[in-house]
Amino acid sequence: MRSMLITVLGGTGFVGRALVSRLIRDGHQVRVLTRHRARHSPLLVLPGLNLLRTDIYSASALEAAVAGSDVVINLVGILNESGYSGKGFTRAHTELTANVIKACQANGIRRLLHMSALKASADAPSHYLRSKAAANKLIQESVGVDWTIFEPSVIFGPGDGFMNKFASLIKFAAWGHFFTVLPIARGGTRFAPVYIGDVIEAMIQALTNKSTTGQRLELCGPDVFTLSALINYVAHIIGKRCYVLSLPDSIGVLQAALLGLLPGKPLSLDNFRSLAVDSVSTRQDLASLGVTPTALTSVVPYYLGPRQPATRYAELRYAAGSRVAAKDALNK
Ligand SMILES: NC(=O)c1ccc[n+]([C@@H]2O[C@H](COP(=O)([O-])OP(=O)(O)OC[C@H]3O[C@@H](n4cnc5c(N)ncnc54)[C@H](OP(=O)(O)O)[C@@H]3O)[C@@H](O)[C@H]2O)c1
Repeated sequence: MRSMLITVLGGTGFVGRALVSRLIRDGHQVRVLTRHRARHSPLLVLPGLNLLRTDIYSASALEAAVAGSDVVINLVGILNESGYSGKGFTRAHTELTANVIKACQANGIRRLLHMSALKASADAPSHYLRSKAAANKLIQESVGVDWTIFEPSVIFGPGDGFMNKFASLIKFAAWGHFFTVLPIARGGTRFAPVYIGDVIEAMIQALTNKSTTGQRLELCGPDVFTLSALINYVAHIIGKRCYVLSLPDSIGVLQAALLGLLPGKPLSLDNFRSLAVDSVSTRQDLASLGVTPTALTSVVPYYLGPRQPATRYAELRYAAGSRVAAKDALNK
Protein backbone atom coordinates (compact mmCIF):
# COMPACT_ATOMS: atom_id res chain seq x y z
CA MET A 1 0.00 0.00 0.00
CA ARG A 2 1.39 3.45 -0.84
CA SER A 3 2.16 5.73 2.09
CA MET A 4 -0.55 8.34 2.62
CA LEU A 5 -0.99 11.41 4.81
CA ILE A 6 -4.01 10.61 6.97
CA THR A 7 -5.60 13.15 9.30
CA VAL A 8 -7.62 11.73 12.18
CA LEU A 9 -10.15 13.58 14.35
CA GLY A 10 -10.84 11.81 17.66
CA GLY A 11 -7.56 9.91 17.18
CA THR A 12 -6.73 10.12 20.89
CA GLY A 13 -9.68 7.98 22.03
CA PHE A 14 -10.08 4.24 22.43
CA VAL A 15 -10.62 3.52 18.72
CA GLY A 16 -8.27 6.29 17.64
CA ARG A 17 -5.27 5.05 19.64
CA ALA A 18 -5.55 1.60 18.07
CA LEU A 19 -6.13 3.03 14.60
CA VAL A 20 -3.28 5.53 14.55
CA SER A 21 -0.77 3.00 15.88
CA ARG A 22 -1.79 0.61 13.09
CA LEU A 23 -1.63 3.35 10.44
CA ILE A 24 1.88 4.27 11.55
CA ARG A 25 2.92 0.63 11.61
CA ASP A 26 1.64 0.37 8.03
CA GLY A 27 3.95 3.25 7.02
CA HIS A 28 1.46 6.10 6.74
CA GLN A 29 2.05 9.66 7.95
CA VAL A 30 -0.54 10.41 10.60
CA ARG A 31 -1.78 13.76 11.84
CA VAL A 32 -4.08 13.66 14.87
CA LEU A 33 -6.17 16.73 15.65
CA THR A 34 -6.88 17.13 19.34
CA ARG A 35 -8.34 19.64 21.76
CA HIS A 36 -5.81 18.67 24.48
CA ARG A 37 -2.33 18.02 23.16
CA ALA A 38 -0.60 17.78 26.57
CA ARG A 39 -3.17 15.33 27.94
CA HIS A 40 -2.53 12.94 25.06
CA SER A 41 1.25 13.35 24.86
CA PRO A 42 1.83 9.59 25.61
CA LEU A 43 0.67 9.06 22.02
CA LEU A 44 3.90 10.70 20.90
CA VAL A 45 5.70 7.38 21.54
CA LEU A 46 4.32 6.47 18.11
CA PRO A 47 7.12 7.29 15.70
CA GLY A 48 6.40 10.27 13.45
CA LEU A 49 2.94 10.99 14.86
CA ASN A 50 1.95 14.62 14.39
CA LEU A 51 -0.31 15.57 17.31
CA LEU A 52 -1.82 18.93 16.48
CA ARG A 53 -3.85 21.05 18.89
CA THR A 54 -6.79 22.29 16.78
CA ASP A 55 -10.13 23.96 17.33
CA ILE A 56 -11.98 21.48 15.12
CA TYR A 57 -15.24 23.41 15.50
CA SER A 58 -13.69 26.40 13.70
CA ALA A 59 -14.28 25.87 9.97
CA SER A 60 -11.15 27.81 9.01
CA ALA A 61 -8.92 26.07 11.59
CA LEU A 62 -10.16 22.66 10.47
CA GLU A 63 -9.74 23.50 6.81
CA ALA A 64 -6.10 24.50 7.47
CA ALA A 65 -5.45 21.47 9.68
CA VAL A 66 -6.51 18.85 7.11
CA ALA A 67 -4.67 20.55 4.21
CA GLY A 68 -2.50 18.17 2.19
CA SER A 69 -4.16 15.00 3.49
CA ASP A 70 -4.97 12.06 1.25
CA VAL A 71 -7.60 10.80 3.69
CA VAL A 72 -9.56 12.26 6.61
CA ILE A 73 -10.95 9.99 9.31
CA ASN A 74 -13.52 11.31 11.79
CA LEU A 75 -13.82 9.31 15.01
CA VAL A 76 -15.22 12.06 17.24
CA GLY A 77 -18.14 10.89 19.32
CA ILE A 78 -19.66 11.53 22.74
CA LEU A 79 -21.93 9.34 24.84
CA ASN A 80 -23.09 12.19 27.04
CA GLU A 81 -23.61 15.90 26.78
CA SER A 82 -23.83 18.56 29.45
CA GLY A 83 -27.54 19.31 29.82
CA TYR A 84 -30.38 17.44 28.19
CA SER A 85 -31.38 19.42 25.10
CA GLY A 86 -29.42 17.40 22.55
CA LYS A 87 -27.40 20.47 21.50
CA GLY A 88 -24.15 18.88 22.71
CA PHE A 89 -24.76 15.77 20.58
CA THR A 90 -25.74 17.87 17.57
CA ARG A 91 -22.56 19.94 17.91
CA ALA A 92 -20.13 17.03 18.34
CA HIS A 93 -21.74 14.68 15.83
CA THR A 94 -23.66 16.67 13.22
CA GLU A 95 -22.21 20.19 13.12
CA LEU A 96 -18.66 18.88 13.34
CA THR A 97 -19.34 16.45 10.49
CA ALA A 98 -20.62 19.34 8.37
CA ASN A 99 -17.30 21.13 9.08
CA VAL A 100 -15.32 18.01 8.19
CA ILE A 101 -17.13 17.66 4.86
CA LYS A 102 -16.51 21.35 4.04
CA ALA A 103 -12.84 21.06 5.01
CA CYS A 104 -12.43 18.04 2.71
CA GLN A 105 -14.22 19.80 -0.16
CA ALA A 106 -12.20 23.01 0.27
CA ASN A 107 -8.94 21.03 0.10
CA GLY A 108 -10.02 18.65 -2.66
CA ILE A 109 -9.62 15.67 -0.30
CA ARG A 110 -11.83 12.93 -1.70
CA ARG A 111 -11.53 10.10 0.83
CA LEU A 112 -13.46 10.38 4.11
CA LEU A 113 -13.91 7.57 6.64
CA HIS A 114 -16.51 8.32 9.28
CA MET A 115 -17.34 6.49 12.49
CA SER A 116 -21.03 6.36 13.28
CA ALA A 117 -22.93 3.84 15.43
CA LEU A 118 -25.15 0.84 14.82
CA LYS A 119 -28.89 1.72 14.77
CA ALA A 120 -28.31 5.43 14.11
CA SER A 121 -31.57 6.59 12.55
CA ALA A 122 -33.67 9.72 12.28
CA ASP A 123 -36.43 8.16 14.38
CA ALA A 124 -34.16 6.55 17.00
CA PRO A 125 -35.16 7.20 20.63
CA SER A 126 -31.99 9.04 21.76
CA HIS A 127 -30.19 12.25 20.86
CA TYR A 128 -27.01 10.16 20.48
CA LEU A 129 -28.45 7.95 17.74
CA ARG A 130 -30.42 10.73 16.00
CA SER A 131 -27.43 13.10 15.85
CA LYS A 132 -25.27 10.27 14.47
CA ALA A 133 -27.97 9.65 11.82
CA ALA A 134 -28.09 13.34 10.90
CA ALA A 135 -24.30 13.25 10.40
CA ASN A 136 -24.64 10.15 8.19
CA LYS A 137 -27.22 11.96 6.09
CA LEU A 138 -24.91 14.96 5.57
CA ILE A 139 -22.13 12.63 4.44
CA GLN A 140 -24.35 10.57 2.15
CA GLU A 141 -25.63 13.75 0.49
CA SER A 142 -22.18 15.38 0.18
CA VAL A 143 -20.72 16.17 -3.22
CA GLY A 144 -17.16 15.32 -4.26
CA VAL A 145 -16.46 13.09 -1.25
CA ASP A 146 -15.78 9.33 -1.43
CA TRP A 147 -17.09 8.27 1.94
CA THR A 148 -17.37 5.10 3.98
CA ILE A 149 -19.41 5.07 7.18
CA PHE A 150 -18.72 2.50 9.93
CA GLU A 151 -21.54 1.50 12.25
CA PRO A 152 -20.26 -0.70 15.07
CA SER A 153 -22.14 -2.31 17.93
CA VAL A 154 -20.31 -1.85 21.23
CA ILE A 155 -16.54 -2.22 20.73
CA PHE A 156 -14.40 -4.25 23.14
CA GLY A 157 -10.66 -4.56 23.61
CA PRO A 158 -7.86 -3.34 25.91
CA GLY A 159 -8.68 0.18 27.09
CA ASP A 160 -12.38 0.02 26.09
CA GLY A 161 -15.02 2.08 27.87
CA PHE A 162 -17.82 -0.47 28.08
CA MET A 163 -16.38 -3.66 29.60
CA ASN A 164 -13.94 -1.72 31.79
CA LYS A 165 -16.76 0.50 33.08
CA PHE A 166 -18.76 -2.50 34.24
CA ALA A 167 -15.67 -4.11 35.76
CA SER A 168 -15.08 -0.94 37.82
CA LEU A 169 -18.75 -0.74 38.77
CA ILE A 170 -18.85 -4.36 39.93
CA LYS A 171 -15.60 -3.95 41.90
CA PHE A 172 -17.02 -0.82 43.55
CA ALA A 173 -20.39 -2.44 44.33
CA ALA A 174 -18.81 -5.69 45.53
CA TRP A 175 -16.11 -4.06 47.63
CA GLY A 176 -15.87 -5.84 50.96
CA HIS A 177 -18.88 -8.00 50.18
CA PHE A 178 -18.98 -11.72 49.53
CA PHE A 179 -21.85 -11.30 47.11
CA THR A 180 -23.45 -8.25 45.52
CA VAL A 181 -26.63 -7.39 43.67
CA LEU A 182 -26.28 -4.94 40.76
CA PRO A 183 -29.54 -3.31 39.63
CA ILE A 184 -29.35 -2.52 35.90
CA ALA A 185 -31.72 -0.63 33.58
CA ARG A 186 -32.68 -2.35 30.32
CA GLY A 187 -30.67 -5.49 31.07
CA GLY A 188 -32.46 -7.31 28.23
CA THR A 189 -31.02 -5.07 25.48
CA ARG A 190 -28.97 -7.13 23.05
CA PHE A 191 -25.48 -6.32 21.76
CA ALA A 192 -23.13 -7.96 19.27
CA PRO A 193 -19.81 -6.74 20.73
CA VAL A 194 -17.15 -6.29 18.08
CA TYR A 195 -13.40 -6.56 18.70
CA ILE A 196 -11.35 -3.37 18.28
CA GLY A 197 -8.83 -5.26 16.14
CA ASP A 198 -11.62 -6.20 13.69
CA VAL A 199 -12.93 -2.61 13.57
CA ILE A 200 -9.41 -1.38 12.78
CA GLU A 201 -8.94 -4.08 10.14
CA ALA A 202 -12.18 -2.97 8.45
CA MET A 203 -11.00 0.64 8.41
CA ILE A 204 -7.60 -0.35 7.01
CA GLN A 205 -9.32 -2.40 4.29
CA ALA A 206 -11.47 0.61 3.42
CA LEU A 207 -8.36 2.67 2.67
CA THR A 208 -7.64 0.55 -0.39
CA ASN A 209 -10.81 -1.40 -1.14
CA LYS A 210 -12.73 0.82 -3.57
CA SER A 211 -15.91 -1.24 -3.15
CA THR A 212 -16.33 0.24 0.34
CA THR A 213 -16.83 3.74 -1.11
CA GLY A 214 -20.40 4.94 -0.59
CA GLN A 215 -21.09 2.08 1.86
CA ARG A 216 -22.44 2.03 5.39
CA LEU A 217 -20.76 -0.94 7.05
CA GLU A 218 -22.35 -2.53 10.11
CA LEU A 219 -19.63 -3.98 12.33
CA CYS A 220 -20.68 -6.74 14.72
CA GLY A 221 -19.03 -9.56 16.60
CA PRO A 222 -19.98 -13.22 16.17
CA ASP A 223 -22.06 -13.53 19.37
CA VAL A 224 -25.09 -11.71 20.73
CA PHE A 225 -25.38 -11.02 24.48
CA THR A 226 -27.94 -9.24 26.58
CA LEU A 227 -26.58 -6.41 28.72
CA SER A 228 -27.23 -8.54 31.84
CA ALA A 229 -25.30 -11.46 30.35
CA LEU A 230 -22.36 -9.19 29.51
CA ILE A 231 -22.24 -7.85 33.06
CA ASN A 232 -22.46 -11.38 34.50
CA TYR A 233 -19.60 -12.39 32.24
CA VAL A 234 -17.45 -9.44 33.37
CA ALA A 235 -18.15 -10.34 37.01
CA HIS A 236 -17.09 -13.91 36.31
CA ILE A 237 -13.86 -12.81 34.61
CA ILE A 238 -12.85 -10.46 37.44
CA GLY A 239 -13.71 -13.10 40.02
CA LYS A 240 -16.65 -11.35 41.71
CA ARG A 241 -19.93 -12.92 42.73
CA CYS A 242 -22.62 -10.62 41.40
CA TYR A 243 -26.33 -10.98 40.69
CA VAL A 244 -27.57 -8.65 37.95
CA LEU A 245 -31.08 -7.44 38.71
CA SER A 246 -32.75 -6.19 35.54
CA LEU A 247 -34.97 -3.27 36.52
CA PRO A 248 -38.39 -2.62 34.97
CA ASP A 249 -38.31 0.50 32.72
CA SER A 250 -40.37 2.51 35.24
CA ILE A 251 -37.53 2.15 37.80
CA GLY A 252 -34.72 2.02 35.22
CA VAL A 253 -35.60 5.51 34.02
CA LEU A 254 -35.29 6.80 37.59
CA GLN A 255 -31.92 5.08 37.97
CA ALA A 256 -30.73 6.73 34.73
CA ALA A 257 -32.02 10.13 35.86
CA LEU A 258 -30.16 9.82 39.19
CA LEU A 259 -26.92 8.40 37.76
CA GLY A 260 -27.02 11.14 35.12
CA LEU A 261 -26.59 13.68 37.91
CA LEU A 262 -23.29 12.12 39.06
CA PRO A 263 -19.93 13.34 37.74
CA GLY A 264 -19.06 11.45 34.56
CA LYS A 265 -22.71 10.32 34.19
CA PRO A 266 -22.27 6.52 34.63
CA LEU A 267 -25.71 6.21 32.94
CA SER A 268 -27.79 9.06 31.54
CA LEU A 269 -31.37 9.38 30.37
CA ASP A 270 -30.08 9.56 26.80
CA ASN A 271 -28.09 6.31 27.31
CA PHE A 272 -31.27 4.74 28.74
CA ARG A 273 -33.14 5.77 25.59
CA SER A 274 -30.40 4.36 23.33
CA LEU A 275 -30.80 1.07 25.19
CA ALA A 276 -34.38 0.80 23.89
CA VAL A 277 -32.88 -0.45 20.62
CA ASP A 278 -30.97 -3.73 20.27
CA SER A 279 -27.47 -3.06 18.92
CA VAL A 280 -27.36 -6.09 16.61
CA SER A 281 -27.38 -6.70 12.87
CA THR A 282 -28.24 -9.50 10.46
CA ARG A 283 -25.63 -8.31 7.96
CA GLN A 284 -22.17 -9.85 7.60
CA ASP A 285 -20.21 -6.74 6.61
CA LEU A 286 -16.98 -7.74 8.40
CA ALA A 287 -16.99 -11.12 6.65
CA SER A 288 -17.57 -9.41 3.30
CA LEU A 289 -14.30 -7.51 3.91
CA GLY A 290 -12.53 -10.79 4.64
CA VAL A 291 -12.43 -10.17 8.40
CA THR A 292 -13.46 -13.08 10.63
CA PRO A 293 -15.15 -11.55 13.68
CA THR A 294 -13.34 -12.31 16.94
CA ALA A 295 -15.24 -13.80 19.89
CA LEU A 296 -15.49 -11.65 23.02
CA THR A 297 -14.64 -14.61 25.22
CA SER A 298 -11.32 -15.13 23.46
CA VAL A 299 -10.06 -11.62 24.27
CA VAL A 300 -11.68 -10.15 27.38
CA PRO A 301 -9.97 -12.44 29.95
CA TYR A 302 -6.60 -11.11 28.74
CA TYR A 303 -7.34 -7.51 29.67
CA LEU A 304 -9.97 -7.71 32.41
CA GLY A 305 -8.63 -10.77 34.17
CA PRO A 306 -5.97 -10.71 36.89
CA ARG A 307 -3.12 -10.14 34.38
CA GLN A 308 -4.61 -6.98 32.84
CA PRO A 309 -2.27 -4.27 31.44
CA ALA A 310 -0.99 -1.86 34.06
CA THR A 311 -1.44 1.38 32.15
CA ARG A 312 -4.02 3.00 29.92
CA TYR A 313 -1.52 3.15 27.09
CA ALA A 314 -0.31 -0.44 27.36
CA GLU A 315 -2.62 -1.36 24.49
CA LEU A 316 -0.72 1.06 22.28
CA ARG A 317 2.47 -0.89 22.66
CA TYR A 318 0.47 -4.08 22.17
CA ALA A 319 -1.15 -2.76 18.99
CA ALA A 320 2.18 -1.40 17.78
CA GLY A 321 3.39 -4.98 17.71
CA SER A 322 5.90 -4.70 20.54
CA ARG A 323 5.11 -8.00 22.13
CA VAL A 324 7.90 -7.72 24.69
CA ALA A 325 6.67 -4.32 25.92
CA ALA A 326 3.11 -5.62 26.03
CA LYS A 327 4.20 -8.69 27.98
CA ASP A 328 6.06 -6.44 30.44
CA ALA A 329 2.94 -4.31 30.89
CA LEU A 330 0.80 -7.39 31.40
CA ASN A 331 3.19 -8.69 34.03
CA LYS A 332 3.33 -5.47 36.11
N1 LIG B 1 -16.41 2.59 21.76
C1 LIG B 1 -17.54 2.02 21.35
O1 LIG B 1 -18.00 0.99 21.91
C2 LIG B 1 -18.28 2.61 20.18
C3 LIG B 1 -19.43 1.95 19.70
C4 LIG B 1 -20.11 2.50 18.62
C5 LIG B 1 -19.67 3.68 18.03
N2 LIG B 1 -18.56 4.29 18.54
C6 LIG B 1 -18.09 5.53 17.90
O2 LIG B 1 -16.72 5.40 17.60
C7 LIG B 1 -16.06 6.65 17.72
C8 LIG B 1 -14.84 6.51 18.60
O3 LIG B 1 -15.26 6.02 19.86
P1 LIG B 1 -14.24 5.92 21.07
O4 LIG B 1 -14.75 4.85 21.96
O5 LIG B 1 -12.86 5.87 20.58
O6 LIG B 1 -14.49 7.32 21.78
P2 LIG B 1 -13.57 8.06 22.84
O7 LIG B 1 -12.57 7.13 23.44
O8 LIG B 1 -14.47 8.78 23.76
O9 LIG B 1 -12.75 9.12 21.95
C9 LIG B 1 -13.39 10.08 21.20
C10 LIG B 1 -12.42 11.22 20.92
O10 LIG B 1 -13.19 12.30 20.41
C11 LIG B 1 -12.72 13.51 20.95
N3 LIG B 1 -13.87 14.19 21.60
C12 LIG B 1 -14.54 13.77 22.69
N4 LIG B 1 -15.51 14.65 22.98
C13 LIG B 1 -15.42 15.63 22.06
C14 LIG B 1 -16.15 16.81 21.83
N5 LIG B 1 -17.17 17.19 22.61
N6 LIG B 1 -15.79 17.57 20.80
C15 LIG B 1 -14.76 17.22 20.02
N7 LIG B 1 -14.04 16.12 20.19
C16 LIG B 1 -14.37 15.33 21.20
C17 LIG B 1 -11.65 13.24 21.96
O11 LIG B 1 -10.41 13.68 21.38
P3 LIG B 1 -9.57 14.91 22.02
O12 LIG B 1 -9.75 14.88 23.49
O13 LIG B 1 -8.18 14.58 21.59
O14 LIG B 1 -10.07 16.14 21.36
C18 LIG B 1 -11.68 11.73 22.13
O15 LIG B 1 -10.40 11.18 22.20
C19 LIG B 1 -17.11 7.63 18.25
O16 LIG B 1 -17.67 8.34 17.18
C20 LIG B 1 -18.16 6.72 18.86
O17 LIG B 1 -19.45 7.30 18.86
C21 LIG B 1 -17.85 3.79 19.60
